[in-house]
Amino acid sequence: MSVEILNVHNVEAMRRAGKAAAETLAWVFSQLRSGMTTADIDRLVRLDTARRGGTPSQLGYHGFPAAVCTSRNAVICHGIPSKDEVLEQGDIVNIDVTTCIQGFHGDTSATFFVGEPSPDARHIVDVARRCREAGIAVVREGARLGDIGAAIEQLAHREGCSVVREVGGHGIGRNMHAAPHVNHFGVRGTGMRLRAGMAFTIEPMVNAGTSGIVTLDDQWTMVTADGKLSAQFEHTLVVTKTGCEVLTRGAAENGGMIP
Ligand code: MF3
Ligand code: CO
Ligand code: CO
Repeated sequence: MSVEILNVHNVEAMRRAGKAAAETLAWVFSQLRSGMTTADIDRLVRLDTARRGGTPSQLGYHGFPAAVCTSRNAVICHGIPSKDEVLEQGDIVNIDVTTCIQGFHGDTSATFFVGEPSPDARHIVDVARRCREAGIAVVREGARLGDIGAAIEQLAHREGCSVVREVGGHGIGRNMHAAPHVNHFGVRGTGMRLRAGMAFTIEPMVNAGTSGIVTLDDQWTMVTADGKLSAQFEHTLVVTKTGCEVLTRGAAENGGMIP
């Protein structure tokens, strides 16, 4: 499948969408307290997305029943917000916000601590964040998709963690999910060559134990097969001649502590 090259007008539209998603993530984080539920996160995401003139891209996507994915502890990704799921001290929770503004999408997530983290929680969240940044660091025109995956996988393995293989980053623009598929593992010097104007996400899911996954009966929620922690961070970016422009930078891009 061919990968779209965005023109300057498209990139300007992507900046607006990326900024909105990043600002919603930051505002929602600022509102959260332990004892609130993941359904509260969904409510806050809907409120803030709308007042920025956007729509939540994930709501109804292939039937997804919420505006945001909330993935707590052993949930890898695609967790469905629930009024029965309480944020408790010691938890970690990924909040994945995707906003559509004027036909273009911005997609970003971060994993947050609820109260003071255990050393294990701090480690997996730190590694996942560094894996995202290691992937971003190798993006530029002429680099290859495999360079991104290799950078991420090597860092995760060096830290004694594993990388989820079944879900990856993705092209993004007028559609939330487009070509190319961006693996978070791979071999340097292999895969598609990147060109300026390509937009995609990097969103490694990093597990404290093995990389095995299980999908729950709801057909969405993906959990670690071994029940250990998983963390994720995501940015949307556009490739440039010399590197990339990250479109979803913001106050909560590196997570933080929910008091
Ligand atoms: N925002 C998610 C991603 O990073 C999309 C999840 S699809 C959904 O690609 F339907 F579960 F929302
Ligand atoms: Co994404
Ligand atoms: Co996302």
